[in-house]
Amino acid sequence: MIEPPTGHTPVLPHEVVKLLAPQPGDVVVDATVGAGGHAALLAQAIGPTGVLHALDADGAALELARTRLEDVAGSVVLHQANFRDLRAILDERDISGVDVILADLGVSSMQLGDPQRGFSFSSDGPLDMRMDSRLEAGAAELVNRMGEGDLADLIYEYSQERLSRRIAKRICAARREGRITTTSRLAEIVCRATGAPPHSRRSKIHPATRTFQALRMAVNDELPALKELLEQAPGCLKTGGRIGIISFHSLEDRMVKWDFRRCKDEGTYDLVTRRPVVAEAEERRENPRSRSAKLRVARRTGHALG
Ligand SMILES: C[S@@+](CC[C@H](N)C(=O)[O-])C[C@H]1O[C@@H](n2cnc3c(N)ncnc32)[C@H](O)[C@@H]1O
Repeated sequence: MIEPPTGHTPVLPHEVVKLLAPQPGDVVVDATVGAGGHAALLAQAIGPTGVLHALDADGAALELARTRLEDVAGSVVLHQANFRDLRAILDERDISGVDVILADLGVSSMQLGDPQRGFSFSSDGPLDMRMDSRLEAGAAELVNRMGEGDLADLIYEYSQERLSRRIAKRICAARREGRITTTSRLAEIVCRATGAPPHSRRSKIHPATRTFQALRMAVNDELPALKELLEQAPGCLKTGGRIGIISFHSLEDRMVKWDFRRCKDEGTYDLVTRRPVVAEAEERRENPRSRSAKLRVARRTGHALG
């Protein structure tokens, strides 16, 4: 098991390598390099003649990955970029197609564990949640600016939070008393709205989990970015190239499933996985993050794009 010294354990490591089957000399894209755990495995497989393009929206993650990937034998090119720009990144380097694309969606343990990033309700910090600090608006802007109805819709759409209307109402009432700028303040407002004390026995998850997830997805425009990656991917892969997406959220998994099926119907993909691959019991025990991970893999056929 590859475990970088950074605290982020890559999920489904064996399955990723087996199903994406990187070969010596391949050109591979890790679209979400994070701490570089998957990237190190891919780099090992492609060897000294391979090239790894490692993307992350988060500059701090790229610095970790840089250290982690320092000693790999092949060439590694790091890009601080959103994977929605993959085609443009490859065009800039005259790369018409790659052999492997991997995207391991969502946030890393480092991002969640750093209070200054504002992703977590379990420690106090600025209400930020931007993966890419160059983005203009963080979570505080959304929470303090959006109308009550839009905020409720956003929370419901991205997290299916049943109490979204009540939560949005409380947020709007609370901000009349002063701007909401910290994670702990927002968590407290959400807990009050749901009527559940944090870690109540009524639910296995913290009452603010869904609201935080929804805000994070909105701040980082996560679903539209995934849609763009999926649209570009067939045009970025060589014939026989493989794409693997690891998702942690049912909306993301559904998008991947339907996109791969559509491409199969159009003749541009073969499905490598008919059902999502999930972690074995041992991994689920050792790495709680793996419990909700779903990996789907497809292979580019020789069929021309329409
Ligand atoms: C789950 S972590 C990846 C962990 C990585 N596979 C590893 O083994 O360490 C997800 C990473 O993807 C990045 N990310 C999420 N959405 C992104 C996007 N649209 N474009 C680029 N990076 C993104 C996050 O900043 C985070 O570092």
